[in-house]
Amino acid sequence: MDHTTVGIVGGGPAGLLLARLLHNSGIDCVVLESRDRTYVEQRQRAGILEQSTVDVLRESGAGERLDREGMVHDGIELRWNRRAQRIDFPSLTGGRKVWVYAQTEVVKDLIALQVADGAPLLFEAQVNEVVGADTDRPVIHYTHQGQDRTLGCDYVVGCDGFHGVTRKAVPDGVMSAFERVYPYSWFGILADVPPSCDELIYAHSPRGFALHSMRSATVSRLYLQVPNGTDPADWPDDRIWDELDARFATDGDWRLERGPITSKAVLPMRSFVTEPMRWGRVFLAGDAAHIVPPTGAKGLNLAVSDVVVLARALAHLKDSGSTELLDEYSDTCLRRVWRAEHFSYFMTTTLHTDPGQSAFETRLQLSQLDRVSSSRHAAAELAENYAGLHIG
Ligand code: FAD
Ligand code: DHB
Repeated sequence: MDHTTVGIVGGGPAGLLLARLLHNSGIDCVVLESRDRTYVEQRQRAGILEQSTVDVLRESGAGERLDREGMVHDGIELRWNRRAQRIDFPSLTGGRKVWVYAQTEVVKDLIALQVADGAPLLFEAQVNEVVGADTDRPVIHYTHQGQDRTLGCDYVVGCDGFHGVTRKAVPDGVMSAFERVYPYSWFGILADVPPSCDELIYAHSPRGFALHSMRSATVSRLYLQVPNGTDPADWPDDRIWDELDARFATDGDWRLERGPITSKAVLPMRSFVTEPMRWGRVFLAGDAAHIVPPTGAKGLNLAVSDVVVLARALAHLKDSGSTELLDEYSDTCLRRVWRAEHFSYFMTTTLHTDPGQSAFETRLQLSQLDRVSSSRHAAAELAENYAGLHIG
């Protein structure tokens, strides 16, 4: 059986960044990723990086292209009742900002660094089972190139997302799960058209939520709230643009530019946390441990903060022999996780229209948006959460 210090299940942003941070600390690890490299690099997902995430990527050596190509945003715009309000991050947060740099690009940069260093990263390596979490030597069983293999580890980290297998290594009853499923989904599109805005627009409308984001100076990313179970085939391009026009409408002279739509996908929304994020020598990080609805852009950033905390703890163990930080891993992460859970829930429920929503509930949403636009304290609360907290 092969052996490594840290066996990492999953080569998404959490697994790849953890591998990078451990490599930089001289700790050996192996990443096992079930999909092929092209699939992992093309998977369309997050777009917004918090200040702390950018700082970590830079420190890890993965910040060069991000600094060249990433778009720095100083704020967002909120829209409701045909009016628009900008929230300025630096003035409300002591200088913090966000970056628009797609998850696909973060993943490409991290993979390129691993490959250049010859660090162990196996694609098409399907992990079937993690056993022995409560022993000194947990074992990963996986299949690679048609062969069943085993990897003995000092520690196993499940970075294998919400549907991964590592969580199943923990016996029933050890972890508690907290969950909320939302009665609507996001319909996300990519379009070959320059963004119609300089900063992201989050729009509340009686027809449902809409978000205008971007991927580059020539590619727009847009989302519409749709009912669960929506089939993209029922949404020809003109219907999408008409609906976006209706939801973003203001009394000003703003115009949404249209262009060829290159991708359409429907994404269900969920809040989920598992506690604790560790059992024995098995740790969970990123979406394997918690999910947020996408409104507010926290998922990728939470995955990053988890692995930063874990990499520090493993480096501390290597340098001092002390498991003190490892023992604190779950509590340290969960504080930040629950803050992000609350913020994502707040953004989602303030901006979306529930199918059974009463006029009373709509009035509460509009009052909350009015409050954010009229109180510096309320705006600062939103800005601080959006631009992100320091990693503790
Ligand atoms: P994942 O990215 O899910 O990676 C898990 C990896 O494990 C995958 O590569 C998978 O193939 C692999 N794997 C699974 N099972 C196995 C197995 N058995 N064996 C081996 N490998 C396995 N977050 C933000 O911060 N900002 C945003 O703007 C944002 N927008 C989003 C928009 C959309 C449409 C969606 C869907 C998500 C968005 N998110 C956003 C969330 C973000 O994409 C996730 O939180 C992030 O991908 C989590 O990273 P991860 O590495 O933990 O998990
Ligand atoms: C994007 C996704 C989000 O969830 C969000 O709040 C902002 C932007 C994006 O994919 O660009």
